[in-house]
Amino acid sequence: MTTRRLLPCSHVGHALGSGGKKLEPQRTQRTTAQFSSVSSVVCLLAVALTSQTAAQSQTDPSLKETFKGAFLVGAALSADQFTERDARGAALVKHQFNTTTPENILKWENVHPRLGGYDFALPDKYVEFGEKNGMFIVGHTLVWHNQTPRWVFQDSSGKPVSRDTLLARMRDHIRTVVGRYKGRIKGWDVVNEALNEDGSLRDTPWMRIIGKDYIASAFRFAHEADPSAELYYNDYSLENAPKRAGALALIKDLLAQGIPVKAVGLQGHQKMDWPSVAQEDSTISAFAALGIKVSITELDIDVLPRVVRNPTADVTLSAAPAASANPYAAGLPDSVQTALANRYAELFRVFLKHKDSIERITFWGVGDGDSWLNNWPVRGRTSYPLLFDRDDRPKQAFNAVVEVGKGARPIP
Ligand code: GLA
Repeated sequence: MTTRRLLPCSHVGHALGSGGKKLEPQRTQRTTAQFSSVSSVVCLLAVALTSQTAAQSQTDPSLKETFKGAFLVGAALSADQFTERDARGAALVKHQFNTTTPENILKWENVHPRLGGYDFALPDKYVEFGEKNGMFIVGHTLVWHNQTPRWVFQDSSGKPVSRDTLLARMRDHIRTVVGRYKGRIKGWDVVNEALNEDGSLRDTPWMRIIGKDYIASAFRFAHEADPSAELYYNDYSLENAPKRAGALALIKDLLAQGIPVKAVGLQGHQKMDWPSVAQEDSTISAFAALGIKVSITELDIDVLPRVVRNPTADVTLSAAPAASANPYAAGLPDSVQTALANRYAELFRVFLKHKDSIERITFWGVGDGDSWLNNWPVRGRTSYPLLFDRDDRPKQAFNAVVEVGKGARPIP
């Protein structure tokens, strides 16, 4: 779920505040209200400032050029970005990135909301945007237990469907969605988050109804639908030893069955103190030793206080709002900006060390206002996990990553 909103002029008066002060840090907290003449003036000013920022962003170094020859760099995009309704965001994406992932529109609940009913309007636009801009286009995600409608697992009387019916539904979904973008979407997150923290297979409707071979079946169906597409297993917290061991065993087993798993996706929802550099380093080595590629697929770094058992990225968890859980609502202190920059730099040094094994680094969002971490696990916090701020301006962390990347460039 995206938390970013466009900044239409009718809302700008609020964003700037009555005294014309700087933009509120939480773009997501805007409300609709009366549009006054004061806000019209403010609106014009804001448009001018926005175009200035957009123009400036074109002269910033780009992540895709900085890491050329090492790995692709991308972001998960909202519909506003890839339809270019958010012109500033779209311009930044084009300038900075050479690979994209759709944040939500290819999840089952959106692309296949009803039995036999597909909705390809936004996915078509997503793929067009990627092609027009020469991006490596990723599809996310085919088989997951979240953001999948209940009907998928139920018959017309609400009872669980049979194994055969669920396999047939899965096959139809994968063949229809992957088949539609054959040769255009270059890589798919085929199965998302199939593992528990202890490395065992998660108890989901897929698992309960089909059994553990649902994973192999999903990969087979995806390979049938587009033999040239890269296929990925994607999960969070794979840096933790038990879960990592489970993922290694799972992928080894798939490979032994002749299933072409191209890469593992380490989601990379990181904390300031987790995972350690050593954990990240050894995790990438362990997967690369299977002979597959590694991608960091959903990178962000949470600077806010922990409010749930960590580390996890389980989207179903939630915690109650509390002021102590949202300490930077008025802005991020310099000391934390610097700490975030250092943290990004240490992780990118690890990624660069493994550039031969890493295919791509994808951020989960573009600017801080986009991030799911503004609403997870507590709703309405002001989070700062990305390289660009709420106005899409590069942060100190961006500069730190670019500095690290200078070591990635081939000497001219
Ligand atoms: C998981 C999923 C993503 C997204 C994030 C949170 O990591 O793979 O699609 O939902 O959670 O936004």
